Amino acid sequence: MRVLVLGGSWFVGRVVVEEAAGRGHDVTVFNRGVTAARLPAGVRRVVGDRESAADVRSLARSGPWDVVVDVSGNVPAVVGQSARVLADVAERSAFISTISAYREWPHAPVDEDSPLWDADPDHDPGTRRWDPDAYGPLKVGCEIAWHEAVGPQRLLVLRPHVVLGRYEYVGRLPWWLKRMRRGGQVLAPAPDRAVQPVDVRDLAQFLLDRIEQGDGGFFNVAPRPEATAYSAMLHACMSVTAASAERPAELIWVDEGWLVSQGVAQWTELPLWRNAAAPWAMNVERAHAAGLQCRPIAETVDDTWAWLRDGGRAVDHERFAEHGIAAEKEAAIVRRWLARLDRVGEVSWPAPLRTPD
Ligand SMILES: NC(=O)c1ccc[n+]([C@@H]2O[C@H](COP(=O)([O-])OP(=O)(O)OC[C@H]3O[C@@H](n4cnc5c(N)ncnc54)[C@H](OP(=O)(O)O)[C@@H]3O)[C@@H](O)[C@H]2O)c1
Repeated sequence: MRVLVLGGSWFVGRVVVEEAAGRGHDVTVFNRGVTAARLPAGVRRVVGDRESAADVRSLARSGPWDVVVDVSGNVPAVVGQSARVLADVAERSAFISTISAYREWPHAPVDEDSPLWDADPDHDPGTRRWDPDAYGPLKVGCEIAWHEAVGPQRLLVLRPHVVLGRYEYVGRLPWWLKRMRRGGQVLAPAPDRAVQPVDVRDLAQFLLDRIEQGDGGFFNVAPRPEATAYSAMLHACMSVTAASAERPAELIWVDEGWLVSQGVAQWTELPLWRNAAAPWAMNVERAHAAGLQCRPIAETVDDTWAWLRDGGRAVDHERFAEHGIAAEKEAAIVRRWLARLDRVGEVSWPAPLRTPD
């Protein structure tokens, strides 16, 4: 198939390109060439800015395509402009949206029929700076823009939960891995809380499977809720970094409510921790019925660590700096917690993994 990927060089799009090329598709990527990730053999790059109508019209002259995959769309007005031009040169379209499209997330479980944010498909916020409050409504606006341009029969929309894996630039799993490698007493919330991140390779495979099947419609994409506990993710991070750790890591599990009272920023200072009612309650039965396969979190952790260990560096992104707690702040909170328990020096529960000699 002839596949056009709008984006393709940071993280999700990069893995989509690798997967599509690996399956033998004829792949073109369109981006500004600012982040010139090495492309798989045979992949063509058309350089241009999707904010420029002239660049998008020029791109269209390289078509036609069987499918256009929009990974980089975040601004409805910009997406609408590309979608209207590319509708004439691509049979079908796929848009990568997000769980943040749901108005009730993370406060209530969501499925594909849950209410979305109100959104305007012609909206342009005027700034390109990351704004967590604007993100969900903007992505819904992009979904509507694609829908208006191509109609429901020709459109596939995936709404992934948090995506992890090699090339991740938001910095969630990389922060945990580097923190475990530094070792010592590690502030750890909520061992039994389920987490539901999807491996970027599973997302890319599901996307390509749907495209090859000619499927349209809306799919939430993540492992099933309850498949993975927070403790399993942290233990996997400890285990994979143990051989190169500066000193053994010890997980100090702390009561979530108390942690909130200590002013720890949820979702960012301790990545992937959120003390809301339903951060990890995305119903994904539709995708699993369609064939979504999700690997165990340990494989995602292994692959991300292998990439970092081999010198992998994510694209510079403003969101990276959001993540992680300062070492002094973490140490002070751990001291307060242990003093509160009056058990300084005791081993915390669940028991830490031993570092191999
Ligand atoms: N990370 C998560 O946990 C998560 C969760 C759910 C959904 N998502 C969604 O997944 C997507 C993430 O994709 P990604 O960023 O990893 O995709 P990507 O396609 O790998 O990277 C973004 C691409 O957009 C290009 N680009 C940026 N601005 C451009 C412009 N003005 N004109 C043309 N190209 C431009 C970049 O290249 P240049 O800089 O060279 O132009 C880059 O190739 C997002 O849509 C996000 O909403 C992410």
